[in-house]
Amino acid sequence: MNINKGKEWWMGASHFQMELANIAKCLLLGVVILWIQIHGNKGCFEEERLALLDFKAFVGSNGFDTDHLLPSWIDDTTSNCCEWERVICNSTTGHVTELLLNNTRQYNIESSSFYNDENSWCVNLSMFQQLKELKTFNLSYNHFDCSIDNQGCERLSKLKKLEVLDLAWNKFNNIILPSFGALISLKTLILSCNRMEGSFPIQGMFDL
Ligand SMILES: *[C@@H]1O[C@H](CO)[C@@H](O)[C@H](O)[C@H]1NC(C)=O
Ligand SMILES: *[C@@H]1O[C@H](CO)[C@@H](O)[C@H](O)[C@H]1NC(C)=O
Ligand SMILES: *[C@@H]1O[C@H](CO)[C@@H](O)[C@H](O)[C@H]1NC(C)=O
Ligand SMILES: *[C@@H]1O[C@H](CO)[C@@H](O)[C@H](O)[C@H]1NC(C)=O
Repeated sequence: MNINKGKEWWMGASHFQMELANIAKCLLLGVVILWIQIHGNKGCFEEERLALLDFKAFVGSNGFDTDHLLPSWIDDTTSNCCEWERVICNSTTGHVTELLLNNTRQYNIESSSFYNDENSWCVNLSMFQQLKELKTFNLSYNHFDCSIDNQGCERLSKLKKLEVLDLAWNKFNNIILPSFGALISLKTLILSCNRMEGSFPIQGMFDL
């Protein structure tokens, strides 16, 4: 008799454990759904955050003080990249839609030292390919010197939503032109003060 009672108690306990496990599962699901909702509203997708941090690392690797230039771009998963300076997200989708990387080094563009700047640095544009919802991209006033090869320009073709691309005041040359053909949403392309050669319209622009 005692043994049977013990068995009943044990079966009751295991039933209780199963209930607990079910409750735990529901709770976990709830937490996941909540996390997705908060994450979705807050914005900042992991692949976009990492792409931006790649750019910060690139700036740092060229000897510039990124704590001063991009202070809010913190490598911390709790840091919302939609709140970083120079970054604008769509508040509904949480995707980065605008990136204002104009004059990254914050030079005084009124001074002649900016125009005489001989610091050579070239950005590998493929680091931005994850920003698939990007609409406006301002890379002007950076003196990017990318005449050796096309440095990932072809990867820009992944930016199917890109409407405005400002590359003024860099040292890009004609090599990058064919890459723009794949930017199907592009409406405004600013290439002034680069190293384009030849008479207008330059060969390669025809594909736009
Ligand atoms: C944000 O994205 C939604 C959904 O794609 C779109 O309807 C809305 O116009 C966008 N908002 C802005 C400010 O671009
Ligand atoms: C970048 O350009 C925007 C206008 O598009 C301007 O408001 C901002 O001050 C510029 N940033 C720098 C560092 O020049
Ligand atoms: C890009 O930024 C520069 C300032 O650094 C500004 O003059 C220019 O208008 C911006 N381009 C666009 C398309 O807004
Ligand atoms: C640019 O970056 C991509 C991806 O990281 C890499 O495959 C490519 O070789 C790089 N291009 C150059 C010219 O360094």
